[in-house]
Amino acid sequence: RELARRQKLPQYNTIDDAVSLLQSKKNIMVITGAGISTSLGIPDFRSKNTGFYSQLLARGFESPEDVFDIENFDMDPRTFYELAGEILPVLDKTSPTHAFIRLLQDKGKLLTNYTQNIDNIEAAAGIDPAHLIQCHGSWATATCRKCKAQVPGATIFSDVKAKRVARCTACVQRLSAQQQQPKKRKRAPNSNSNSSSRSRGKHGHVYSDDDSDGQYDIPEPGVMKPDITFFGEQLPNTFFDRLTDHDREKVDLVVIVGTSMKVAPVSEIPNFIPKDVPCVYISREPVEHINFDVTLLGYCDDVVSELCRRAGWGLDHPMALKGK
Ligand code: APR
Repeated sequence: RELARRQKLPQYNTIDDAVSLLQSKKNIMVITGAGISTSLGIPDFRSKNTGFYSQLLARGFESPEDVFDIENFDMDPRTFYELAGEILPVLDKTSPTHAFIRLLQDKGKLLTNYTQNIDNIEAAAGIDPAHLIQCHGSWATATCRKCKAQVPGATIFSDVKAKRVARCTACVQRLSAQQQQPKKRKRAPNSNSNSSSRSRGKHGHVYSDDDSDGQYDIPEPGVMKPDITFFGEQLPNTFFDRLTDHDREKVDLVVIVGTSMKVAPVSEIPNFIPKDVPCVYISREPVEHINFDVTLLGYCDDVVSELCRRAGWGLDHPMALKGK
């Protein structure tokens, strides 16, 4: 029955079908992944040899995704900070595919861009936050795991580049203020003790700065984590709210670019969209687990350049293919 119903629906197969869909539809949902930033030198995750996870496997990491597991991060953030520099965003460049999404927005056709990317390049491309859901967060901000203080992401970039765990400055300030307070003695100083761990406070109080005495734990400043969604963390509520309360009824075309569609819940969006909404998939490699109306295989920057050329749309980007 479903097949019969689908057979009654218009059939789309070719790049020209994709062009006419882009020209005629008004509420286009664009789902993007790491493949749209690879032309800017940011590796994707799963491409053979070049993908970030493939590189980690080659370096002996048995399950590379664990690098982005929140429990592992809280146990020991050093592994993440050792590697994160390889996926730090470039902040001043965009790709033709980002420009294509911006073009849809300028034509009033962009319903929402659901991006899985954390590089925040959509901001540099001028994609309006009102039409953007960063499903997996982004490097735009970072938050202290202890006191929840939030800072601009760029604040921790020097630590990331130096492979150093970034610590919270708000915690440091609070702790140093606490250190100025005279310590209330918890027990009479043991004057005989010659333990090097004891130090005389300026008010004459003697207190241990060695937690082996069990008197004080020296509190540490919290660890900063970029506001990207780690495995084990919840996606932002805006993802679910926008999809269910706003987009599901309005979307009239889905365009999926540069993602292997392997990570839920983003990979489940096509199942959530009404069956009569056509779906165009653009990537270097096909996916077997989802049926698309049109699959355009190739470098996404070239594919979107050709789509725009055939649609008679000027794609204004220095890296765009200049069609004949
Ligand atoms: N043009 C077109 N497609 C490309 C290009 C390109 N220049 N470069 C890579 N691709 C394709 C790859 O062939 C692959 O199908 O983009 C896809 C990228 O897939 P992944 O590496 O799995 O990246 P993504 O789908 O974004 O991963 C989703 O996984 O680990 C998590 O949080 C991480 O957001 C990420 C999520």
